[in-house]
Formats: sequence, structure tokens, C-alpha cells
Amino acid sequence: MSLSNQRVVGGEELGAADSDTNFYAARLAGVNQDHVVLTTTDIVNANGVILVRKGVRIDSNIAERILRHKLIKPLEEQVAVADGLNGQRLAERFACLHEKYPDLGHLHDRLGSIALCNELSVKSEFHTMLWQKLTVLEHELPSEFEKGLFCAGLAALLARELKLSHQDIQSAFLAGLTHDAGLLHIDPAILNKNGPLTPPEWRAIQSHVITGRMLLDHLPGVSSAAADAVMQHHERCDGTGYPVGTGEDQLGLLGQVVAIADSVQAIRVRQFEKLGRNLYDTLPYLNLNAYTHFYSVFQAMVSVLKRSGLSQTLVDAYGGVATMGLRLQQRGESLQEAVGYLQAMVDSLETSNIRSCGQHVLRSARRVQTMMVSSGLVRIELTTWLGSLAQEPDESVLAELNEIDLMQNELRWQIRNLLRAFGEFYDLECKDDSCGALALHAERLEDCLKAAG
Ligand SMILES: [Fe+2]
Repeated sequence: MSLSNQRVVGGEELGAADSDTNFYAARLAGVNQDHVVLTTTDIVNANGVILVRKGVRIDSNIAERILRHKLIKPLEEQVAVADGLNGQRLAERFACLHEKYPDLGHLHDRLGSIALCNELSVKSEFHTMLWQKLTVLEHELPSEFEKGLFCAGLAALLARELKLSHQDIQSAFLAGLTHDAGLLHIDPAILNKNGPLTPPEWRAIQSHVITGRMLLDHLPGVSSAAADAVMQHHERCDGTGYPVGTGEDQLGLLGQVVAIADSVQAIRVRQFEKLGRNLYDTLPYLNLNAYTHFYSVFQAMVSVLKRSGLSQTLVDAYGGVATMGLRLQQRGESLQEAVGYLQAMVDSLETSNIRSCGQHVLRSARRVQTMMVSSGLVRIELTTWLGSLAQEPDESVLAELNEIDLMQNELRWQIRNLLRAFGEFYDLECKDDSCGALALHAERLEDCLKAAG
């Protein structure tokens, strides 16, 4: 989800997660299997009816009773979870994370930020409700909790790199830790769905940024910068993010710090794990996205990686330089073709009567096209050189081929993301005759993507 950045509808249409259904009750019942979860007060619905008395354990039956009611007070304020996370335990989780991802541990070790993660954990004075959410997140959505840890450490390190105040470093840490905690309030059937999501399901997923912000808002000791960062961690400088799709001048620094940490984590954990690549290998991705986040944030991330003591991983995933060259040439040619269809899509969108979704697709299409052209990946000289490796294999270029492979993968991901956003726009807003041509461009783009697969 961290990489899913398309906005389905205008930000104003995104509300907090389905507020009529209290999915958090089901999460608490899940936690109750290992930690005692007790009501600390009578739980009353909006009509004044007592649903559950004080001192009752939240099991699945009780959760079922609460699930469909609107409560007068948020459920999290009316329960206590026993034996949950605290500062010391959080520090232990960081130690485990750095063992699981040795490159991350190495980076923090080399840059002296193991102690920073430790101090921020042990000295954290989070509100009880925040510890509760983190405990529930770790139990119910362990990979999201792990992602939060990963991002919290990176975000704190980047904030320090940017020479921000200690309070901002703490805020970056907290925002990294909780940025996806809003997912706890989303229907598990949507979160666990295999296959494409419908527009309403996307809206539900995207609402996690709003729910996450609401979680931090008004909690004693939480800065507004941390809450804003959670809200903005899917926003991008060119306005292609969500929930608002606002431009660079409207964004806060910490939101972009968390955003870049979130992207790096996603690539490292989702794409690189099987291939044995490390954090340093995210550099080609970062270079392509130099202006996606604040440029200062990009520079800080690059600087941190370059001083990490890590180095590029050379992966021979295609059976030799000759085969790899041919494969990348073929992909490069499909991407060259895609640039033409992207241009056609931009031209059609510019002359169409488009609304919110269409404007978002137009911005995204321009961004992807610019990224493809400025990267140099679609230059004929490059694809010709790649093809020549079949005749004259040269082992010394494996590093360059790895970099090209990673950058092509990023472009493919960007096109796929654009096409997903286009599909949603097409369903919601495409009503007139000009849409026929647009659909054709999208189909051709899809064909290029398949050929580049
Ligand atoms: Fe997120």
C-alpha cells in the first residue's frame, strides 16, 4: 500500500474509514486472545443504550455486539489492553528488526543511529492510547507494525540529517511508527482482498491517512507536525498523491520524510528480499524520483545511503550479461513505444473536459513521461548498446545492467500505477466521445507494459 499512490476521487470525498462499522472492535477481540482486553467504562451507543458493562473482556461475541453501533465515545478510550508495548519493549523490537534486516542494522550502526532509535524508544512518553494502538497493530497487522518500526528509525535518522530540532526528530519517529495505524479501522475483508480493488474499496484504504491523523490529533504530547506527517505521507510534490493531491508548497517537511522512508522500506522489503538486494540498491529508484519528495529529503536519503558502508548488489538474474542485455533491450524498446502513447494520452486529456480524477491522471501521465525521458532509459543509443552485448558480452558492465534493470522496473511500476488510476478515472468520469481515443491510448500503453514484463 505504501507504493499505491493514486487518488481515486477528490480528497474532499474521502472520509475516515467506514464510521458506521467499528472494525477496531474486531481487532481488539483478536488481541484479547493473547492480552486481556477489558472495558474500562460502560460502553454506550449513540442512542444511550449500554452495549457492554465496565470490566468485561472484549471477545469475539462482545466485538460483534459493538461492531455495528455508533458509540458516544471512541472505543479505544474505553478499553485497556494488558501487558502491551512500552518504551523498553519498543527498543527490543528495533533490535529484532535490525537483526532481520542486517543492511538496515548496518546503516544505523554506521551512522550512529542505533542509539537514536534506542533513546527515542526508551524515553518515549506516549499516551496510553498510543501504546494500545501500537500493541494492537503489532498483534493484528504485524507486517504493518514492522513497517512502522522500519520507517520510524529511517525518518528519525533523516530528520537528524536535515538538522531538525530534537522535537522534530521525535515527531518524525512517532509519525513513522504510526503512519499506517489507521489501517486497523478498515474492514479486514478489504485489506485482505486478493485481486483489484473497486473504487469504494480504494477510498476505504486511502482513508487510513485521515484515521491515522485523527488518532494522533488531540493526544497530549503529540505535535501537530507528527499528525500532519501521518496525514501527508502519501502526498507527492507534483500533486499526484492523496488524500488531497496538493502541491509542494502546501506540504510539510516531515510528511515527505515519512513518505520517502515508506517508499524505501516498501522496495527493500517487497521487491528486494527474494533477490538479496540491500538498501543501497534503492538508489536508482531514488534518482528517478528525485523531485517526487522535497529535494532536500531526497538528498538526505541519498547521503545517508552513500555513507552507510553498504554497496550495490550485483544480481545475475537472467543467466549472463548477453541474455540480460537482450532482455533489457527488449524492455527498453517497449518503454520507448510507451512514451508515444503517454504523449497521446496527455494530449487527449489536455483537450478533454476532465474533472478531479482526470486532472490527477493528467498530472501523473506528465510525471511518468518526464521521468521516462529524463532518465535516458528510452534513448535509442542505450537500447542499441544493450543489444550489442549479445554479440560482445562484457562482464564488467553487470553493475550498469543492474542499475538499468532497477530503473526499468520502477518505470514499469509507475506506468502500472498510472493505468490503475486511469481505469478509475474512466469508470467515474469518462462519459463523452473523446474517451474512446483515451481508452485506446490506455490499451496500447497496457500492451507496452505487458511486452516490457
Ligand atoms: Fe500509508
